[in-house]
Amino acid sequence: MKKKIVSMLLAATVMTSLVACGSKESGTADSNEKKVLTMATNAEFPPYEYRDGNDIVGIDVDIAKAIADDLGMELKVNSIEFDSIIPAVNSGKADIGVAGMTVTPDRKENVEFTDSYTTSTQIMIVKEDNTDITKPEDLKGKKVGVQTGTTGDLYVSDKEKGIEVSRFSKGMEAVQSLTQGKVDAVVIDSEPAKEFVKQNTGIKILDESYTNEDYAIAVKKGNTELTEKINASLKKLKESGELQKIIDKYIK
Ligand code: ARG
Repeated sequence: MKKKIVSMLLAATVMTSLVACGSKESGTADSNEKKVLTMATNAEFPPYEYRDGNDIVGIDVDIAKAIADDLGMELKVNSIEFDSIIPAVNSGKADIGVAGMTVTPDRKENVEFTDSYTTSTQIMIVKEDNTDITKPEDLKGKKVGVQTGTTGDLYVSDKEKGIEVSRFSKGMEAVQSLTQGKVDAVVIDSEPAKEFVKQNTGIKILDESYTNEDYAIAVKKGNTELTEKINASLKKLKESGELQKIIDKYIK
């Protein structure tokens, strides 16, 4: 009998400590500890998110940090594959997806999007000496590199366009395959394109852009409470000029 009580007590102690651990991780711990806001991103997308030593930095990280501050929360950033971000948000592994993510009708069916925080375009990168690709229609019959699951991927994968698509886990890898002559063009967001062209020789960005897009933050489908809180923070950041300041810090 005594033995049984001891082991029950032991089990109880183990359980409480497990619970304590658990609550610490999910950020619901004691009052003086801030709740954690977990951001999923893909840190292969300068100037929005990229690695600087061991840190993940960029426009999106600074914006998310400013939102977390406004909500009295502590920001945690995890870098994963771009096409895993929406699943991570919907499974609860991440609270928000911030990754230069374009609002599209398809994605809207799967996640909530906050108000847009900036706009972008898809552009084409080709070899400097290329003369036969100048506009989107010229990609017909060509090999085009994209980052898997991005809007660039979506546009060129339209069967009717007759494009041979090469998909890469990172945008930079698509650009490298262009410099190596393995693809004829890369379709990617304009600001990362500028960064990648700076870091490689012999390639150029074409003047004509493919599309105009809105970037927004993804929140779990149905979580309108968090979406609205973030919208309120975004509104403050826009009105105070803080948002523009963050963008100007990275885009000169
Ligand atoms: N704007 C594009 C999209 O939504 C590309 C985003 C890629 N982002 C990244 N962090 N790798 O599909």
